Amino acid sequence: MADKRTAKLTLDDGREIVLPVFEGTEQECAVDVSSLRKETGYITYDNGFVNTGSCQSTITFVDGEKGILRYRGYPIEELAENCRFVEVAYLLVYGALPTREELDNFSAQLTERANIHEDMKHFFTGFPVAAHPMAILSSMVTSLSSYYPTSGDEEWNFDDTVARLIAKVRTIAAYSYRKATGEPFVYPRGDLSYCENFLNMMFSGEGKNYEISDKALRALDKVLILHADHEQNCSTSAVRLVGSSRAPLYASIGAGISALWGPLHGGASQAAVEMLMAINEDGGDCGKYIAMAKDKDDPFRLMGFGHRVYKNYDPRARILKQSCDEILDELNIDDPLLSIAKSLEKVALEDEYFVSRNLYPNVDFYAGIIYRALGIPVNMFTVMFTLGRLPGWIAQWYESTQDPDWRIWRPRQVYQGETSRAFIPIDRR
Ligand code: CMC
Repeated sequence: MADKRTAKLTLDDGREIVLPVFEGTEQECAVDVSSLRKETGYITYDNGFVNTGSCQSTITFVDGEKGILRYRGYPIEELAENCRFVEVAYLLVYGALPTREELDNFSAQLTERANIHEDMKHFFTGFPVAAHPMAILSSMVTSLSSYYPTSGDEEWNFDDTVARLIAKVRTIAAYSYRKATGEPFVYPRGDLSYCENFLNMMFSGEGKNYEISDKALRALDKVLILHADHEQNCSTSAVRLVGSSRAPLYASIGAGISALWGPLHGGASQAAVEMLMAINEDGGDCGKYIAMAKDKDDPFRLMGFGHRVYKNYDPRARILKQSCDEILDELNIDDPLLSIAKSLEKVALEDEYFVSRNLYPNVDFYAGIIYRALGIPVNMFTVMFTLGRLPGWIAQWYESTQDPDWRIWRPRQVYQGETSRAFIPIDRR
């Protein structure tokens, strides 16, 4: 791993330590600090892991300064334009674009495993009708480990687990929506593509299939592709962290779903559209919301804006903005939220506060407008993000298990609490 380069650190007591430096294939350099504590007693401190590399990976490359995103070396723009979601899922998990035969075989594996165990259907009865679908999804996905052999078992098979997860999470997602609407579950069908099947399970009514245009299906494929991986973000790190204790893949993915739910991460897709709806109801005054976002005494933030890594326009947001125009046009929908989103973006990108902090629309800013056009309810937006991110999580989990240096993730801390004090018996406190 380490090449010949080194970095020298001088401590305040004059001690010097030489640390190995290594470089990635895109010339990113890292100082390996793993020996620092053993040699000096010092640890590194990095609030929010802003500057911490937690692993070495071959899956996704992001250059946040230039606004570049590639999966396994392929530019996101080309994948979004030319691929179906299942093809990209295969690429992420197996490292290469599938041949026609490999893709057919993978799709057949998904079809074969799309139904959940009949007993699992009863779980839905136990959830309150108003349950957030992310709460249902995270617990149901974790519970898959009670039905299928886990990663430590001899009969465990990675390919089966991949197909089972990608197929069943989609079914569970659709059922969580049907649970909320009180409609009967619609079984997955063998003759439909991944996205068609999902929409059919969500929306087909009694005796009638859900009709959807090819362009709308392409739009859904595209949104899922754009969400499919994003290197070591919060949820992916949660998946790797849980997996590092040798917990099963399903449980690790359940943790990823929980991490994704928060409004600073995948929950921003729901929060962004709710914000646009509030602005619309409030008369469309974008300036007022920009002022609120800039006010340090106001907790409000422009949702779908800003990113830890991108200090340039998020390439995913650029593609989605264009997709919004196409899909609304195709479906003949006049959604006032799209013009509000565009105005908000324009005002923000001309404002010194956003310019000086390099705050641009992120993937969550425009995604919700596409989901709305497809009839997907707002509380399902983060579920959609989950469907997209799943192959990325699986790929990242698997990569970590294949690392010869794989060890449990266990960060340190700087303790700032009470020093040792005498215990006081309860009747003397
Ligand atoms: N609205 C207003 N101010 C913002 C925003 C925003 N959306 N985002 C960042 N800032 C300000 C922040 O207040 C800080 O200002 P100052 O330097 O004066 O203290 C500065 O910009 C840097 O922000 P930060 O909070 O230190 O940045 P971070 O890297 O810790 O957080 C973020 C990144 C994405 C959580 C944040 O930008 C944010 O809260 N955005 C809104 C939520 C959102 O859209 N999340 C989706 C992220 S992308 C997809 C995904 O991960 O799911």
